[in-house]
Amino acid sequence: MPFLNSNINLEFNREKLFDSNLFKSLQIVEIHCASENRVILSKDIESQVVSPDWMNLLIQGDNKYVMQSLLESFKEKIDLIYIDPPFFTGGDFHFKTFIGEKNTYVSKAYSDSWDGGLESYINFIYERLILIKELLSKTGSIYLHLDWHVSHYIKILLDQVFGEDNFRNEIIWAYPAASVKTRKFYIRSYDTIFFYTKSDKYIFRDDPHIYMEYSDRVKTALKEDENGLFYYRGGSHNGKKLSRKVYVESDGIFPRDVWTDIPYIRANTSEYQGFSTQKPERLLKRIILASSNENDLVADFFCGTGTALLAAEKLGRRWIGCDITPQSIHICRKRMLDVKNSNDLFNWSKKYKKEFKPFKLSKIHNNENDFHIPGEYLNPNASSIPELITYKKPDFDVSIETKEDSIQITLSNYKIPYTQYLNPKIIQKISHFSDWIDYWCIDFNFQVDHINCDWTAYRNPKNRQLRLCSKIFNFKETGTYKVRIKVVNIIGHESEKDYIIEI
Ligand SMILES: C[S@@+](CC[C@H](N)C(=O)[O-])C[C@H]1O[C@@H](n2cnc3c(N)ncnc32)[C@H](O)[C@@H]1O
Repeated sequence: MPFLNSNINLEFNREKLFDSNLFKSLQIVEIHCASENRVILSKDIESQVVSPDWMNLLIQGDNKYVMQSLLESFKEKIDLIYIDPPFFTGGDFHFKTFIGEKNTYVSKAYSDSWDGGLESYINFIYERLILIKELLSKTGSIYLHLDWHVSHYIKILLDQVFGEDNFRNEIIWAYPAASVKTRKFYIRSYDTIFFYTKSDKYIFRDDPHIYMEYSDRVKTALKEDENGLFYYRGGSHNGKKLSRKVYVESDGIFPRDVWTDIPYIRANTSEYQGFSTQKPERLLKRIILASSNENDLVADFFCGTGTALLAAEKLGRRWIGCDITPQSIHICRKRMLDVKNSNDLFNWSKKYKKEFKPFKLSKIHNNENDFHIPGEYLNPNASSIPELITYKKPDFDVSIETKEDSIQITLSNYKIPYTQYLNPKIIQKISHFSDWIDYWCIDFNFQVDHINCDWTAYRNPKNRQLRLCSKIFNFKETGTYKVRIKVVNIIGHESEKDYIIEI
């Protein structure tokens, strides 16, 4: 089908997109639960979709296949979908790898260049919008975040998929531009967020927490009357300025479609993850509070550092997140585990303090081998870099101390068999074996094919220390146990080992 009388063709094969024989299955790899009591997965998929068996879900994989596989259980079950896909910039985006306690290394997070040009990009988004529409509940909303590069094309696509009548807003999120040097055109300083709904019956909440603050000028002019209500003196009649009391709501102004009150992420803030396209939690707070109710299901299929998931978690919504890169999923996992130390969305200067609700980490089950060294980490001078698949996985050693019914594990060494293929700039930054390690977790009673994490340790940008010694774990009964340990290094490579212990 030609798109807009241009030579761009919309290629969409409905039969193929919805052929369940081609769908890939999701494989659970890790379960995280903050409480001492393990969450046992229910076998009944349908019951997992609603409370109380619900478990939030973080999935690594191409969102096209992920959404296809979710269709079986989640058709018309998701209340709000926010997506922030690549913007068709033609460039690469980066993130900081934090090495040990002091060093960093910048590497590619994802590429935004498209071999097939605009046509391939538009078709990429088109297929995903069609799947999103299937997953959205009848009262659901979609927010699609873009900028000047292609938002005009994608608006037409959204009209086509969701219907012009279901367009609600084109939100302009304007932020102060960083030091841009151009004097050839005006500085570009806003993103566009399209808001569409599945139908004309949709959730939209007039919640004071979504209100925009008054400008400083208005704030200084505001006075409080004897009943605690706020007003300023002003108004006009027939062109004449008046000085009557104009009452306003104390919470601020109901939001317009131009949002100027949310700053971009800065490196000195606690939410900063070192990921160049990370969005602020306050942006997602407004979207989620306005377009979903508590306990509703919110999804982000291009979740990056997991901003939408974190905001959903803190606002009492259930969530599903998906990203194609293991690095992003790794950041999301750590961010969620540490949610209690992130900012409280209703009182930003305080910490959230609550533990995360249980979540499972899944992968699309296919034959792809995740085990490769991303280009930026490779040694540019190494000759004959072997086929990536032939690398041996890193190995680690532990010491295990058992006392009566308890056990404590200490990581004692970590060995990378492919250091000669790594960029020397990384090697120079390693002074202790633990500098290789970014995360490790233990399942003290491994039973099935996924790790049920009883304990985790990880670094994050604001707390770079890593515990090498686990907590003391007490077994409730004597017996033989299989302990599984997983270690994730700074490149994102995972190694697992099992130990059999007698208690
Ligand atoms: C602009 S970033 C999202 C940033 C995110 N909103 C945040 O606050 O951190 C886009 C993300 O889309 C991911 N991505 C690109 N293509 C994808 C695909 N086909 N499936 C899933 N994720 C994809 C990239 O890996 C990247 O993390």
